[in-house]
Amino acid sequence: MAFISSGYNPDKPMENRITDIGPRNFEEFYPPVIKKNKGAWDYHEIVKPGVLKHVGLSGDVVYTVRVGGARLMSVTHIREICEIAEKHCGGHLRFTTRNNIEFMVETEAALDALTADLASRKFAGGSFKFPIGGTGACVSNIVHTQGYVHCHTPATDASGPVKAVMDDMFEYFQSMTLPAMVRISLACCLNMCGAVHCSDIGIVGIHRKPPIVEHDRLDNICEVPLAISACPTGAIKPAKVEIDGKKVNSVAVNASRCMYCGNCYTMCPAMPLASGEGDGIVLMVGGKVSNRISMPKFSKVVVAFIPNEPPRWPTLTKMVKQIVEVYAKEARKYERLGEWAERIGWEKFFELCDLEFTHHCIDDFRDPAYYTWRQSTQFKFTKHIEA
Ligand code: HEM
Ligand code: SF4
Ligand code: SF4
Repeated sequence: MAFISSGYNPDKPMENRITDIGPRNFEEFYPPVIKKNKGAWDYHEIVKPGVLKHVGLSGDVVYTVRVGGARLMSVTHIREICEIAEKHCGGHLRFTTRNNIEFMVETEAALDALTADLASRKFAGGSFKFPIGGTGACVSNIVHTQGYVHCHTPATDASGPVKAVMDDMFEYFQSMTLPAMVRISLACCLNMCGAVHCSDIGIVGIHRKPPIVEHDRLDNICEVPLAISACPTGAIKPAKVEIDGKKVNSVAVNASRCMYCGNCYTMCPAMPLASGEGDGIVLMVGGKVSNRISMPKFSKVVVAFIPNEPPRWPTLTKMVKQIVEVYAKEARKYERLGEWAERIGWEKFFELCDLEFTHHCIDDFRDPAYYTWRQSTQFKFTKHIEA
């Protein structure tokens, strides 16, 4: 397309420049019933999966319909969301902290019209555009990251595996049959953008090969001390390397100390480590952020490696489903996955979920690793020892 100026003058970049104005104030976008009853809500109930009812002290009622969002969406799709909001909700809507979309109405008649409209909308491929659900003891949306769509450090994709897992979890998105909510999150590398470290189920991309050191350009494009200090295990040291008879500054990686975190590549573009067959996924379970009953917990590694299997990641989806189904059957009401695993003991968790326990899951990172081992004679025999 031919260039169309917005009015910005590249010859005088600072002229008419507006800065530090921050976001729009959220109050500008409140539906009237929210504005009126703000801070004066009495109670709420979940009418059915995906539909909430809040009642104000004034007696005012607001129904909220929560629908799944793919997070990555086109302007066309956002326009369709706006069209729905115009038609049913006076032009108002909001997005949740798990990237679902919520439409609000004030009467039961409006609620029925809205839900019927939402349920009728599908993409040409057959997927629901606005599946209703994500409330109560369910699997709601998967908090996820950029993957191969936009980041340069991923060890797996984000949008692809999330679609595959949500297809498998769809019945749990649309129902409220679990002991408690199950939060699933995905990060495509160990930077863990998002919530994988504190989710019931965390899916994390990992590498299994040390970085390649591009000696010929490293000193020109990297701040060597930054790369060295990026390494959590001290695997990198400065090195002089001879290329075409010329001595250049570079680094040397001690491969037996490297655990492929990729942090040096984040600092130094001359240390790439992505690998088609080397990269894959780690499964973590048992994290939570709420204070309900037990304190917040980190999620823990239970499957050290699952290969990347685009486009549907069948091994990954099977394992996630297996864990959710066993948890759904075994855990008590209100018990989060981590609370359940800690109550029955991790050895029982591995047994019930039929997961192979490998040495990779045993912490070996610095002094705190010691506190993850068992300094007690308290344990249960499991079928693992019969083998
Ligand atoms: C020659 C001196 C310095 C250089 C070359 C430098 C360079 C940088 C660079 C490249 C970044 C990252 C920007 C980005 O994320 O895009 C940064 C961020 C930052 N620098 Fe410096 N810096 C210098 C001195 C300082 C000093 C003296 C201070 C504080 C007293 C400072 C405080 C910060 C902070 C707070 C950030 C993070 C800003 C943010 O992301 O919110 N820097 N600096
Ligand atoms: S998790 Fe890693 S690869 Fe994924 S978006 Fe964040 S930094 Fe990029
Ligand atoms: S990948 Fe991680 S562990 Fe390996 S050398 Fe780089 S920073 Fe160190």
